Amino acid sequence: MSRGRTLLDFIRTISLDPIGATGVLMATFGGGLFLLFLILSLSGFPFSPYIGIFIYIILPAILLLGLVLIPIGRWRIGRKYPGERPPLFDLTNPAHQKKLGIVAGLTVVNVLLFGAAAYEAYHLSDSDEFCGTVCHKVMEPEWTAYQTSPHSRVGCVACHIGPGAGWFVRSKLSGARQVLAVTFNTYSHPIETPVRNLRPARETCEQCHWPEKFHGDRVDVRHRFQEDEENTDTVTVLALHIGGGNRKGKPVSGIHWHTNPANVVSYVSTDFSREEIPWVKLETADGNVVEFVSEDCDDVDQVLATGTHRTMDCMDCHNRPTHIYEEPDRAVDLALTDGRLDKGMKWIRREGVRALRTPVAEGEDPYTKIRAALGQAYAKREPGLVTEAQLDDASKALTKIWSRNVFPHMAVTWGTYPTFLGHQDDGGCFRCHDGLHVAEGGRTIPDDCETCHALLAEEEQNPEILELISGTN
Ligand code: HEC
Ligand code: HEC
Ligand code: HEC
Ligand code: HEC
Ligand code: HEC
Repeated sequence: MSRGRTLLDFIRTISLDPIGATGVLMATFGGGLFLLFLILSLSGFPFSPYIGIFIYIILPAILLLGLVLIPIGRWRIGRKYPGERPPLFDLTNPAHQKKLGIVAGLTVVNVLLFGAAAYEAYHLSDSDEFCGTVCHKVMEPEWTAYQTSPHSRVGCVACHIGPGAGWFVRSKLSGARQVLAVTFNTYSHPIETPVRNLRPARETCEQCHWPEKFHGDRVDVRHRFQEDEENTDTVTVLALHIGGGNRKGKPVSGIHWHTNPANVVSYVSTDFSREEIPWVKLETADGNVVEFVSEDCDDVDQVLATGTHRTMDCMDCHNRPTHIYEEPDRAVDLALTDGRLDKGMKWIRREGVRALRTPVAEGEDPYTKIRAALGQAYAKREPGLVTEAQLDDASKALTKIWSRNVFPHMAVTWGTYPTFLGHQDDGGCFRCHDGLHVAEGGRTIPDDCETCHALLAEEEQNPEILELISGTN
């Protein structure tokens, strides 16, 4: 056999062995198809993230596997048919020089292909569509809540990964683990929170919101409808002491006193959800340390030894900055405020909230269940109070609210993901600001109502303050 073989000869020889032949096939098809899709994609053809996984991850993997199998095949042929042993390189042989040229050329092409694949795979796996839709069923609750949130134009990666190589690698490793969990259906339903490995807020949130930015009060006017026949419209007016946190450590007050680097608050929680906080420590820039212990705590040493330690950051209050799920009563208040639900429909505030709580099992049609529940509720009241058309319209609006917040296939329902940003059910701020956390000398974490806001009106009809604010007087 001639020693100066062309590439074709080489392939023919390799093909004598099944492993080598498979390698050649895989490399040709994987590489060829990848090149074709890459050209289509670069010329603007819109591929979905699913096809993206195929193009940028599966095809290059096939190509790579093929390239690995080829030398294995070559080695096996060498053992099986010593006469067919493909030659080793002899750089003085002109035929080999030519072949080396071909191999070098192919290597450059392969490196370019893998480079393109890695680049595209990186962009794909960082895109919001990928995060939100590829694991569609799993991420549906978060994706849905996110799309109507203040951060719907902020990428998932801005909060979940942030800049820098270290977190990039960590996130891809954890992403690969998650893909496996989804493939083998071993993830938890619902996804457990608080998320344990979230990057510190300093490196995510604070890339966009800097502590000096917060200042002063913010007045919120909230419509709260009553559970009476007329759905009486009342307002709550709060002046929230947003306050600020100065990087230079100057004393600042208000809610964002917490974000001032001069005040470091750390705590120990004794449950997974961080709702039980028996011990809180405050360290100030002047070196002062104050430890607050809950009066409900019997054994501080045990709590310190076995509890989970954490330093407070944005997420201890803003745990729902973008995956914001509503409560039925607040969701109905909002729908009545902006007209998605008809304020004129008698008792709808009361019955709407109840209908939203109707259990709907996975696979059942929520509209049918909600429509039936609402129909039954009104059937118990005087006849002719509402029309069938009103019931249909209200049920449609309620079903939209339901679909925005409840996801039976992920076991996400009302209240699954509570917010820490207030004090519903004595949670949130009242985990610490309950008046029971006492330091030596009797100092407590403040719980008087004026600490965080001035309550200018609470569920009042046409309060004077509203006329003052809106200038209608
Ligand atoms: C503004 C910042 C921000 C953005 C943008 C963001 N997230 Fe989150 N996400 C968070 C925070 C903070 C948590 C942690 C909640 C907790 O620990 O209780 C979280 C939690 C989650 C969870 C755990 C379950 C849950 O509801 O808490 C999933 C899943 C998730 N995010 C997916 C996504 C996806 C997918 C996107 C993009 C479509 C995205 N996130 C965009 C801040 C963000
Ligand atoms: C990439 C920039 C960016 C990042 C990162 C980011 N935000 Fe925001 N955030 C914004 C923008 C822009 C707005 C204003 C949206 C608007 O006014 O509609 C906003 C609004 C908010 C608001 C006001 C919401 C409201 O009800 O109007 C809060 C609270 C907030 N962000 C908290 C956070 C927290 C906590 C994090 C970290 C988990 C975070 N943000 C990360 C850009 C960002
Ligand atoms: C101690 C709890 C707490 C901490 C810690 C905290 N916030 Fe807030 N933040 C609040 C509350 C309460 C509000 C007002 C309530 C609301 O928006 O509904 C608020 C409001 C905001 C707003 C809207 C401000 C406005 O003028 O409307 C932004 C933006 C924000 N926070 C971002 C952050 C960021 C970023 C961090 C971390 C650096 C942070 N917060 C830390 C409790 C906190
Ligand atoms: C992990 C415990 C903890 C949580 C949760 C917490 N705080 Fe605090 N907060 C503290 C401590 C400790 C202080 C300092 C008390 C002192 O100085 O004696 C404080 C102080 C404050 C102050 C007074 C700042 C000043 O001007 O002196 C405000 C306002 C405040 N917090 C608002 C909030 C709000 C609003 C929330 C909920 C969104 C909240 N905090 C949640 C621990 C907490
Ligand atoms: C540690 C801070 C803090 C203290 C102390 C506090 N609040 Fe609040 N409160 C908040 C925050 C933050 C919100 C806004 C949460 C949100 O954005 O929905 C709020 C919201 C409210 C609301 C509005 C609820 C609604 O309809 O939206 C009422 C009413 C209220 N607080 C009453 C009180 C009363 C009464 C006290 C005294 C017993 C008190 N608060 C003490 C932080 C506090």
